[in-house]
Amino acid sequence: MMLDVKDLRVYFYTRNGVVHAVDGINFGIKKGETLGIVGESGCGKTTTGMAIMNMISRPGKIAGGSISIDGREISSLTETAMRKEIRWKKVSMVFQGAMNCLTPTYTVGKQMVETIVYHTRMEEEEALEIAKKYLAHVGLKEDVVRRYPHELSGGMKQRVVIATALLLEPELVICDEPTTALDVIVQAQIINLLKRLKKELNLSYIFITHDLSIEAEVADRLVVMYAGKIVELGTNEHIYGKEPMHPYTQKLLASTPRLREKVDELDFIPGTPPDLLNPPSGCRFHPRCPYAFDRCREEEPDLIEIEEGHRVACWRVR
Ligand SMILES: Nc1ncnc2c1ncn2[C@@H]1O[C@H](COP(=O)(O)OP(=O)(O)OP(=O)(O)O)[C@@H](O)[C@H]1O
Ligand code: SF4
Ligand SMILES: [Mg+2]
Repeated sequence: MMLDVKDLRVYFYTRNGVVHAVDGINFGIKKGETLGIVGESGCGKTTTGMAIMNMISRPGKIAGGSISIDGREISSLTETAMRKEIRWKKVSMVFQGAMNCLTPTYTVGKQMVETIVYHTRMEEEEALEIAKKYLAHVGLKEDVVRRYPHELSGGMKQRVVIATALLLEPELVICDEPTTALDVIVQAQIINLLKRLKKELNLSYIFITHDLSIEAEVADRLVVMYAGKIVELGTNEHIYGKEPMHPYTQKLLASTPRLREKVDELDFIPGTPPDLLNPPSGCRFHPRCPYAFDRCREEEPDLIEIEEGHRVACWRVR
């Protein structure tokens, strides 16, 4: 495994109490693999990605567990070591909404060069050449380095953000909702671009989205998160090929438009995701689960392997 996450817990210590944003999750990634992370808003997807970058900031903290990259434990590395050896160089991230946060007064070239110079102390001229090379990789012309963010379309801005994540030749790229703000045609272009880059640069991805139809396109394996926990983990075959096993995954699939073109009516998941300050007892999905029974309200189900590579946390699936 190039990345191994074990019993990871990330909590936010707010004035109102402790938010259990990520609460004991386990998964690994092999080299060259794309692991999808799906789940509703607030289930802990971004927090998981930020923890792997070791970028959780106050009031948040990695409260337990381990994250190792090529066998090295990163949560115990100093910030200097993280910056020198891991962040952007081994693992980088296309941050959620980053295309709308480019500095408006900086040219594309300047923002990209700053990333390289900050992490490598390279000369600016050399850094600019690298920036141009990666702009070409993402299908943009070299002269985009002289443009300002407002001169670019949404799709072009997202390409700049992706190019920036690649500048220091990482092996693993965490893509957090990389297509969410884009129209469907540009979405498809960005997905094709990410697939091409994966092959050309031999990358592994963590691909975060709330949209299962996009994961069906890109992921090899899928993690389904609910309220800070993993409720199901399996290959695409396990999740899309047959019926998924966890009631939450089933509901999520049934409510995904593009995977359900032939049905008359889309399903939806009743209720709202739980408050992570006070998560429900037992199985966190029980207040919304059509199959909940007594044990679900009292005891928390572990994530157990029901067939090779397929894990489910549900009392009904044993
Ligand atoms: N700085 C913070 N302070 C307090 N709570 C936070 C903070 N950042 C995140 N959280 C909480 O942690 C939980 C997980 O948030 P996270 O951003 O990881 O969710 P997400 O799955 O990425 O959601 P989305 O699909 O909306 O991007 C949420 O309940 C959120 O409110
Ligand atoms: S453990 Fe119970 S409440 Fe939770 S998903 Fe399974 S059946 Fe539903
Ligand atoms: Mg998020």
